[in-house]
Amino acid sequence: MTNAPTATPPIIEFPKSWTRRHLLDLESLDADEITTILDTAQQLKTLTNDCKSKLPLLVGKTCANLFFENSTRTRNSFSLAAKRLGADTVEFSSSGSSVAKGETFVDTAKTIEAMGVDWVVTRHSTPGTPHLLSRELKCSVLNAGDGPHDHPTQGLLDMLTIRQHRGSIKGLTVALVGDIAHSRTARSNIWGLSKLGANVIICGPPTLVSPRWAELGFEVAHHLDDILPRCDVLNLLRIQFERQKARPFPSVHEYAALYAMNGERMRKAKDDILIMAPGPINRGVEITPEVADGPHSVILEQVNNGIAVRMAALWLLAGANQTN
Ligand code: NCD
Repeated sequence: MTNAPTATPPIIEFPKSWTRRHLLDLESLDADEITTILDTAQQLKTLTNDCKSKLPLLVGKTCANLFFENSTRTRNSFSLAAKRLGADTVEFSSSGSSVAKGETFVDTAKTIEAMGVDWVVTRHSTPGTPHLLSRELKCSVLNAGDGPHDHPTQGLLDMLTIRQHRGSIKGLTVALVGDIAHSRTARSNIWGLSKLGANVIICGPPTLVSPRWAELGFEVAHHLDDILPRCDVLNLLRIQFERQKARPFPSVHEYAALYAMNGERMRKAKDDILIMAPGPINRGVEITPEVADGPHSVILEQVNNGIAVRMAALWLLAGANQTN
């Protein structure tokens, strides 16, 4: 008998079907691609002990965070995801940078790329900026939120959280409630959830929900109380006051009376309803403290899952760069 060394199997198998080099939006991904990211995220979450320990899959690579808008969760989550997989990070903020001296967005991004980065993660108030960078840069580009357009990793972490609780997205009734007009989280969820077979309800004041959603075949509701008893999941979106050009409703008090998830509404909801929010939450506006901190809330699980989907996205895009 020989003691020939046996090849160590890879810790995680790279999915052969994955070919994308950029993650720009969920609208252009198909159901298989979304499922591949969610499956990979789940595997990486387990392998890193709930995203707490390190796994050296991306050692020697560098991730640049290029944020032109404020962020707490997304930025730190991308940084941690890169570090958990052994990569280095570069943190860029527009304030205090050469943008203030008149440098263009593309020139700034190319400058950062020239320092030898493998991924640029970008957040910008203008829709389409990640798509522009994906044409201008050689490295992978990930959208961390482009104005009100899309926020793919947020949609993915929301879907991963639902899947962990319900096993599958298919057939669930999921309502996105609030400022649909200005929410990139809403758009990512609408595309992602509908591709995975959920019944999506788009709910909010008529001034914040375009009638076009109904023309596209989605259920639109203007009264939360009408749809609440049928919902398996509620995703409560923050009113994006910073994006609004006109006042969309008479008062925050009136909005809360019609749309805030509170203890009284919880009694009319399904016993196993999941309460989600992308954060930051405005307590007392879209959600009351008793619901945000209550037993149905999965808001902090969403945050942890954010690291998992971002690890998955970074690893998949890096792998596609090697094979393409
Ligand atoms: C969201 C965002 O910035 O798009 N937050 C997030 O990324 N977790 C939603 C919001 O700001 O309300």
